[in-house]
Amino acid sequence: MSETDIALELPAMRVSYEQSALDESQLAATWQAQLQHWLDEARNAGLPEPNAMVLATSDPSGRPSSRTVLCKGIDERGVVFFTNYTSSKSHDLLATRYACATFPWFAMQRQAHVRGTVEKVSPAETAAYWASRPRGSQLGAWASPQSRAVTSRGTLESALANVERQFADSERVPVPPHWGGWRIRPQTVEFWQGRQDRMHDRLVFELAADDWRIRRLAP
Ligand SMILES: Cc1cc2nc3c(=O)[nH]c(=O)nc-3n(C[C@H](O)[C@H](O)[C@H](O)COP(=O)(O)O)c2cc1C
Repeated sequence: MSETDIALELPAMRVSYEQSALDESQLAATWQAQLQHWLDEARNAGLPEPNAMVLATSDPSGRPSSRTVLCKGIDERGVVFFTNYTSSKSHDLLATRYACATFPWFAMQRQAHVRGTVEKVSPAETAAYWASRPRGSQLGAWASPQSRAVTSRGTLESALANVERQFADSERVPVPPHWGGWRIRPQTVEFWQGRQDRMHDRLVFELAADDWRIRRLAP
């Protein structure tokens, strides 16, 4: 199929969503229990990267960016991911302190959005997760000036070789000062289940005056 053919076919590409439904009566008592439940179902269904989420940030002038990160923690405080603190996304987060993340579980005709303020996780939490990462990923985090322009692939590979030499005699690679976790503290968490005729289910946990309420949105 050529590029032109696919472009012509785009208007007709659609799927009827009939796999499942989401009713108020089925919803878990808390947003985090519901999110864990859907993550668990996505993992059990064999979806690739079930904990991947598309993280949206905005720069101080309101220009948005998005990219995929891996969710590495969920509890009543929020949703955690790890990254480089000098990356573009971290610059946005430091400036605006706000983010949105979408879990796109297309194979299950589902998505969930988490939106709220952000904070850095504690150094102890970062250290605990860092220790679980393979050594190669740890060295990569030292070698990569994430989001900055590099002259070539070779530049990156020689940066990695330098870091390998630097830590050759160390059993443990320390956490780089420029690396760690962010937590999104949700103010809203939406669970979206595709339904027939585009009459989808959208149930939202909303934080209002220290209490969570649940609302249904029109699809
Ligand atoms: C499936 C997947 C998972 C990813 N997970 C992460 C992650 O957990 N942390 C991270 O910093 N980048 C991750 N990335 C790379 C980011 O999407 C992005 O390229 C990088 O963080 C730089 O983004 P920025 O320049 O907007 O800051 C992942 C990419 C993919 C496709």
